[in-house]
Amino acid sequence: MEFIQYEQKGAVATITIAREKALNALNSQVLDELDATLDQVDLGEVRCLILTGAGEKSFVAGADIGEMSTLTKEQGEAFGKKGNDVFRKLETFPIPVIAAVNGFALGGGCEIAMSCDIRLCSETAVFGQPEVGLGITPGFGGTQRLARIVGVGMAKQMIYSARNIKAPEAYRIGLVNEVYAAETDAEGNVVKSAKEVLMAAAEKLASTIAKNAPIAVRNCKKAINDGLDASMDDAIVIEEKLFGDCFETEDQRYGMEFFLDKNKEKVKAPFKNA
Ligand code: CAA
Repeated sequence: MEFIQYEQKGAVATITIAREKALNALNSQVLDELDATLDQVDLGEVRCLILTGAGEKSFVAGADIGEMSTLTKEQGEAFGKKGNDVFRKLETFPIPVIAAVNGFALGGGCEIAMSCDIRLCSETAVFGQPEVGLGITPGFGGTQRLARIVGVGMAKQMIYSARNIKAPEAYRIGLVNEVYAAETDAEGNVVKSAKEVLMAAAEKLASTIAKNAPIAVRNCKKAINDGLDASMDDAIVIEEKLFGDCFETEDQRYGMEFFLDKNKEKVKAPFKNA
């Protein structure tokens, strides 16, 4: 892989989009490598993924404008499909994915973050859908996911105006769950960059998720995602099936027996994903 780095620490794995010279912009090769990386995640071991961008400046500065500049209508549509297919794979990936947004998240960068389950960002993050300023629409899911996350009115305002927003505004409108600042000492010197603080927080959250019963966590993701696309009548049936699916698993038996056991000295063992 030239542009994707993959690192697994126990049950948490981090995917880093590493094309720093182009601020981690997504060309076809990056999308192909990301797709292949997702296929290779060891789902027997890994229980939560983190997605980030290399360096301190940019998460992903969008789809590659150079590559897009000469596309025909048919090629443009195919490029949109390529991005959409990978992002949908990420969105429906069996385990949770946390986007650790460490800087620019523009166009395809904002869109890939929105395909993740949870977005955390550094105080330096900038979000936006600048496509109409380039003569195109958002093409990797932005016209669909932004409205679902921040509401129709705010999504239309951001997309029609092509105005970028900084981390505090992204937090205010619910595009990110948390914003992390650099840590400084008493003299104001930076002791930990905002990205370092962000990555530590993302890893902590990922480890917390990874400690919970894996089948249950996966079923929660599926229930929430599938339910959002359904009527409430159908959605609660989706929930019932995924709820029922957890019973008779080793983890369900153990989790409930542990609660019911009144022995105060007991120590909870790791869930077995079984
Ligand atoms: N595509 C290709 N190259 C990009 C890029 C992109 N989206 N974003 C940045 N780069 C490249 C720059 O061309 C530059 O390359 P060179 O050093 O070879 O000149 C390098 O990254 C550094 O960028 P800048 O010099 O521009 O850095 P800056 O600090 O002055 O500005 C920035 C940073 C504001 C993010 C600016 O780079 C920028 O506006 N980038 C484009 C953002 C954008 O419009 N993204 C949306 C793309 S369209 C899209 O994503 C469609 C879709 O929905 C699928």
